[in-house]
Amino acid sequence: MSVKALYPGTFDPPTNGHLDLIQRGSKLFEHLTVGILKNPVKNPLFTVEERVEMLRESTKALGNVSVATFDGLMVEFARHLGATAVLRGIRAISDYEHEFQMALMNRRLAPEIETVFLQPAGRYSFVSSRMVKEVFSFGGDVTGLVPPNVVKRLRGRINGN
Ligand SMILES: Nc1ncnc2c1ncn2[C@@H]1O[C@H](COP(=O)(O)OP(=O)(O)O)[C@@H](O)[C@H]1O
Ligand SMILES: [Mg+2]
Repeated sequence: MSVKALYPGTFDPPTNGHLDLIQRGSKLFEHLTVGILKNPVKNPLFTVEERVEMLRESTKALGNVSVATFDGLMVEFARHLGATAVLRGIRAISDYEHEFQMALMNRRLAPEIETVFLQPAGRYSFVSSRMVKEVFSFGGDVTGLVPPNVVKRLRGRINGN
């Protein structure tokens, strides 16, 4: 059976943990859409358009992965795509409670859609967009934690461009 999946998130910015999950998902599913939530309350560092570009650049070698944006209910966007699976990542137990709550709420909203959790490679299990931004803003090296194009954009952004 061929399953289409949606990998929703904020991706501000995309990290190698996100990309690790995207690679795993691209092997598992017929098609994987990376969906960037247009969520103004999170006060993002990068615009949605910049995040789309960063994700497209970093996933261009993966033929069955596309990048899109959405707002409103995630399950409605999944339905619109014809996706019957939602991909989410669990890095540590601390992710679990929140992810579990969301998965059950989404199941209530859309019983035909299953949430699938994948674990990143161990070396990315401590990587989060928030930590990357924090470390970078204080001058720390984030090479290897985010793709090279993201390092470049972070440099541009923090230097005030
Ligand atoms: N380093 C990582 N390894 C694996 N999964 C991750 C990593 N960082 C984030 N994720 C997962 O990717 C998804 C999107 O995360 P994120 O961009 O922070 O958006 P959200 O605002 O939905 O949490 C979440 O399921 C999150 O747990
Ligand atoms: Mg998050």
